This record gives sequence, C-alpha cells and structure tokens, in this order.
Amino acid sequence: MASPPPSTGPVRLVVLLSGSGTNLQALIDAIGDDPAAYGARIVAVGADRDKAGGLERAERAGIPTFVCKLKDHATRAEWDEALTAAIADHRPGLIVSAGFMKIVGPAFLAAFGGRFINTHPALLPSFPGAHGVRDALAHGVKVTGCTVHFVDDGVDTGPIIAQGVVEVTEEDTPEGEAALHERIKEVERSLLVEAVGRLARDGHRIEGRKVHLGHVGE
Ligand code: GRF
Repeated sequence: MASPPPSTGPVRLVVLLSGSGTNLQALIDAIGDDPAAYGARIVAVGADRDKAGGLERAERAGIPTFVCKLKDHATRAEWDEALTAAIADHRPGLIVSAGFMKIVGPAFLAAFGGRFINTHPALLPSFPGAHGVRDALAHGVKVTGCTVHFVDDGVDTGPIIAQGVVEVTEEDTPEGEAALHERIKEVERSLLVEAVGRLARDGHRIEGRKVHLGHVGE
C-alpha cells in the first residue's frame, strides 16, 4: 500500500483526542504559521467528550472542533458512522489519534484505513491497550517508550512508523505511573511531530508490516 504522491499544498489533518491535548499542542506549535514548510495543517479537531482539554487548545488556535459521543448514539456502529461522517466533512489526507481513547469501527476503517495513525505510550507490540504505561511498569521492564503506528482493525496492532525509547529507573514504582507517563509524553510529542511531518512531506509505502518513509520509486 502506498501513499498518494505528495500533492500541492499542505496535507489536511484531522486530530482526534480525549484528553488534555499536549500532543495536539505539539503539532499546532510545529506547524506554527507555516503549514507549507511543515507539510500539513490541522483542519479540525474531534473528541468523544465535551470536557477534553484538547478542544480548548484547538479553539485557542482557531481550529474548528467537533464532538461525537458514543452515548449519543443507539449503537456503536451508528457512532462509528457519525464519527466517520464528521471527519469526512473536513476532507482529511491524514487522521491522527493523539490520545483518542476509543476503538474505531468498520465504517471508519473503510473510509480512512491506511490514513489513520495513532500514538501509543509503550513500545508495541508490547503493552497494547488503554493501560500501556501501567502494564509496562507492572511487568518490570527496564525500557519503555512510545510508538506511532497506522491503525488497523486490531488494538494497537498496525504497522509501526516510529518509536522512541524511555528508560525505566529504580525510582519508577508502580505508584509512579503518572510520572513515567509524563517522561514518555515528552518523547512522544517530538516523535509524533516528526512522524506526521515526514508522512505529509515525503509520503510512505508499506511492505508487509514495514513502513518505508520517503518518496516511492525514487
Ligand atoms: C498520550 O500518551 C497518548 O499516547 C495516550 O494518551 C496520552 C495523551 O496525551 N493514549 P495528551 O492528551 O496529548 O496530553
């Protein structure tokens, strides 16, 4: 599977989130007032809850927002279709899950498969799921980190684009999950900014599980 050839103009990004949005902020800051240099611009930010702090960050930056809540829909399939439609309205080239704590469904993947990336706070394929930081700590690993990957129909199983490493020290007790997560997020923000920029500027190609960044066929 290959990305379309780099188009004229910055790639349109929709960012999805559920939380405070520091990863979103890193993207906003990296794009600054020169989307052409970065290769992408954020055209909308979506959340699955009203109170996600990331929505305020988007509003402060003048980026349109939308909220699509699971509980406002009769079934998960209907929610999935509504989310897909809300995103499609913004005609994105790439969709970034930056702390979006929901698993998307078949309608979403049919529309955006191969263009949806996620950032996860562990070194996949170890410790997938909602508690990657806690699970890595409980396992006693000496290094952990973060992974930017394409989303497929599994939980954190898609092809890996980039990874960053964070050391776990003697001071990292199981109670210290939040502190370790903060250290991971420092690495994660730069990793996400770099990975999204490379995908947008240079394109990519996937062979089996391997993601190759850079112009195809050059
Ligand atoms: C990130 O560590 C992401 O990997 C995880 O949730 C965190 C979101 O952080 N799923 P923020 O909202 O971008 O600050």
